Amino acid sequence: MAGIAVLGSGAGTNFEALWEEFREEVVLVISDRRDAGVLEKARERGVRVLVEEGRDFGTQILPHLEGVDLICLAGFMKLVREPLLGAFRGRILNIHPSLLPDFPGLRAWEQALEAGATRSGCTVHLVDSGIDTGEVIWQAEVPIFKGDTPARLHARIQVEERRIYPRAVRAILDKKRAPK
Ligand code: GAR
Repeated sequence: MAGIAVLGSGAGTNFEALWEEFREEVVLVISDRRDAGVLEKARERGVRVLVEEGRDFGTQILPHLEGVDLICLAGFMKLVREPLLGAFRGRILNIHPSLLPDFPGLRAWEQALEAGATRSGCTVHLVDSGIDTGEVIWQAEVPIFKGDTPARLHARIQVEERRIYPRAVRAILDKKRAPK
């Protein structure tokens, strides 16, 4: 059984999808915002929560990650830096609402609309020191329709996020567990 920590700053719909798939393997939810919806969702499900609003987020949370094998960023809006990055190299995943390498950074669905793209989607990738630059694990595409609003496009992308994130995590865990 793997120990998964979910880091989130937002509503927590990706956390929900991960929890549906992994249940007791999700051992900890950490947020940099005490008002984040993800915390309420975690508490309702009996998952241990931690809030760390300080500037040195990574250093502060590191001692709490004993027993954690994999970190899943799920709507987490801070950059992951050392020492957390080094301690979990190759074991931090992120879900991003675009088809990377297109539209890294904030509000990627708005960037796609502003660029006049006809398709977008979401990407699960390994986290490195760049902004949404790590190795791509899984992607799903969605169409962009004429007259789409940012909210409609984001909602369409989020349906795919909730579908592929648990699958990507499963694939990573299976790969790591495979006999040599
Ligand atoms: C998701 O759409 C996720 O892809 C995005 O924030 C939303 C969080 O929703 N993440 C980023 O933009 C990271 N750059 P959630 O809190 O309901 O999972």
